[in-house]
Amino acid sequence: MKEISIQIIPQLTDNYSYILKSNSSSSIIIIDPAESVSHIEYIKKNNSSLDSIFLTHHHYDHVGGVKEILKEFPHVKVFSPNFSIDGTTHILSDNLKITTKLNEFISISTPGHTLEHMILYDQRNSILFSGDTLFRLGCGRIFEGTFEQMFNSLKKINNFPDSTKIY
Ligand SMILES: [Fe+2]
Repeated sequence: MKEISIQIIPQLTDNYSYILKSNSSSSIIIIDPAESVSHIEYIKKNNSSLDSIFLTHHHYDHVGGVKEILKEFPHVKVFSPNFSIDGTTHILSDNLKITTKLNEFISISTPGHTLEHMILYDQRNSILFSGDTLFRLGCGRIFEGTFEQMFNSLKKINNFPDSTKIY
């Protein structure tokens, strides 16, 4: 049986956040919440216990909901690439292993879209959250890095096993 289920939550006009839910407890993780209400409602409706929030990069359409979520659930760990991102309690760095109540992530540096962009890989569950490094029809826009950096970041993603499900 899989350890976790993943809920895809539409955000703003053209974004998604993700809720990872444990299949054996009430623990959840939120990834890249642009908005707060949808997540707060989910938690209350399902009696979930918010373990942590993960942020792939600093853009508002990935972090905009954090502040309001923390008002409701103040003692939550927030993992991001930089303390300048509102609410951050823990810093993600390249090849950092993070153990949550649900799973284990490795954060991997993928500069290009932003210089500090991180993707999140869960090997046991064979899932990868690519943030704005990789979209369904191409890569994210190169705002802060160089084309060479983005190319190397995409090569990292290309090296994951074929069975990896990318969100
Ligand atoms: Fe972005």
